[in-house]
Amino acid sequence: MANIGSVRRPFHRNSGQAFEPQVYWEGRHRTHHGSLRAVGHRQLSDEANAEQYRIKESRIIGMIRRHVPEPYGKALLDAGCGVGVLIPAYVELGFSVVGVDFSDTAIAQAQAADVSAQFVVSSLARLELGRRFDVITAIDVLLHIVADGEWADTLSSLSCHLKPGGVLIILDRFADHAEGWSSHCKPRPKDRYAATFADLGLQIVEHEQFSLEHEDALKDLFAVRHVTSEEPEGT
Ligand SMILES: C[S@@+](CC[C@H](N)C(=O)[O-])C[C@H]1O[C@@H](n2cnc3c(N)ncnc32)[C@H](O)[C@@H]1O
Repeated sequence: MANIGSVRRPFHRNSGQAFEPQVYWEGRHRTHHGSLRAVGHRQLSDEANAEQYRIKESRIIGMIRRHVPEPYGKALLDAGCGVGVLIPAYVELGFSVVGVDFSDTAIAQAQAADVSAQFVVSSLARLELGRRFDVITAIDVLLHIVADGEWADTLSSLSCHLKPGGVLIILDRFADHAEGWSSHCKPRPKDRYAATFADLGLQIVEHEQFSLEHEDALKDLFAVRHVTSEEPEGT
């Protein structure tokens, strides 16, 4: 397994306490080990979380299929994979999958599931896999990167791991319609994503919204492509 890089420390909103993302997530994965509360909604039952995952999976797989009609043998990086709930669906499509998360506990659980994928422990901002992917998924991850510098470094790092012509699939919540979030979340406006992507040579090419039962705020699912003059690799 790769080593985890150090993570910068934003302040815990409302409390004045330093919020330590890696400590928060490691603790959450240990506390809710074996439960979907570790990666899903903390206040929902496993059944309700499983229902939310079914809806999310169907939307995500639909968007991947639209952008990668022939996935067999292509490489997919699941960035912030948690315990790997969505990885079997990617493997089923024919992708060769690598999952990355900065929680040792989450990655150990993902590996124990015996799914055909490789796993790496690393912070996303300091990820250095030395290879590029046809697809990168970041599902319910980026809004949890509360420090702006860490968030920008993460987008840059993901961009460096994307093949020319590759697609980044992101499930998040835009700040345009999200309010009152807790300290481990920081939704950002769609314009902010678009501007940061533009600096990286990336462009949002599809955006859809959907709702989940038991939650008021809409989810934002979007596909982002390299807009580059380089030829796509291996196509
Ligand atoms: C809400 S969970 C979602 C997990 C998974 N994507 C899913 O949909 O089941 C967020 C995950 O992102 C991981 N994470 C958060 N910030 C991260 C960072 N900076 N680098 C790597 N992993 C991170 C957490 O450990 C956690 O497993």
